[in-house]
Amino acid sequence: MLMNDYNSTKVFWNNVFQKITPSKYENADLGQEDLNEASKWLSNGTDSLIDYGCGSGALLFDCALKGTKHHIGIDISTEAIILAKKRAKLSERGNFEFIEGSFECLNQIEENTMDGAILSNIVDNMIPKDSELVLRNIHRIVHPGGKILFKVNPVLTEEQIKKFNIKDLGNDSLLETTGLYLWNLETEKWCSILEQYFEIYFKKDIYYKQHEQHNRLFLLINK
Ligand SMILES: C[S@@+](CC[C@H](N)C(=O)[O-])C[C@H]1O[C@@H](n2cnc3c(N)ncnc32)[C@H](O)[C@@H]1O
Repeated sequence: MLMNDYNSTKVFWNNVFQKITPSKYENADLGQEDLNEASKWLSNGTDSLIDYGCGSGALLFDCALKGTKHHIGIDISTEAIILAKKRAKLSERGNFEFIEGSFECLNQIEENTMDGAILSNIVDNMIPKDSELVLRNIHRIVHPGGKILFKVNPVLTEEQIKKFNIKDLGNDSLLETTGLYLWNLETEKWCSILEQYFEIYFKKDIYYKQHEQHNRLFLLINK
């Protein structure tokens, strides 16, 4: 990866996370019913979890309240990692290692060492070749039969792409005016990419009332 590819991404997310005051995660509520159920499924029988693009670690803290023990979070945003580390200090359940970086960090993790993984709104926000690398690494790191919570943004229509002045980079890859990438794939295309590495156990379009937006949630089993 060229670090430069993600400079705008980093600036965008640093700006978001530096405004957030660290707080203890204690209610086991992610603000979306289906997501709460998904993290319950992921945590059940799972000891160790890796979350790539973890942000402030909300999903990991949620799983820790549901019984997971060992957690690794990786994120490119310095401010996200500072915030996640502060939250980890406030947490009374589980242990947490938060690492600032991109997918070079995944290369250093040995194969079959984690029980499960979280890829929430990250794989579709990268350049496709990098997204493929992340998926391959997660497949390698999680042991066969391990669970993965995977979530992507809604697909944008041609009309929305024009309206929001989004740049088309080719091959369904877009660059938003915020500087964020979007790999804008139909659900069927996501399914065929995911099925190379994982069995699709469950999939659902979930609705966030507070953002008036859908996300596409997949529960996966590592092959
Ligand atoms: C939409 S947020 C999702 C945060 C969290 N996974 C969640 O669902 O609440 C995307 C996160 O991915 C991180 N990110 C974006 N590009 C990345 C990259 N190339 N490597 C690692 N993290 C990245 C951002 O800094 C941000 O924290």
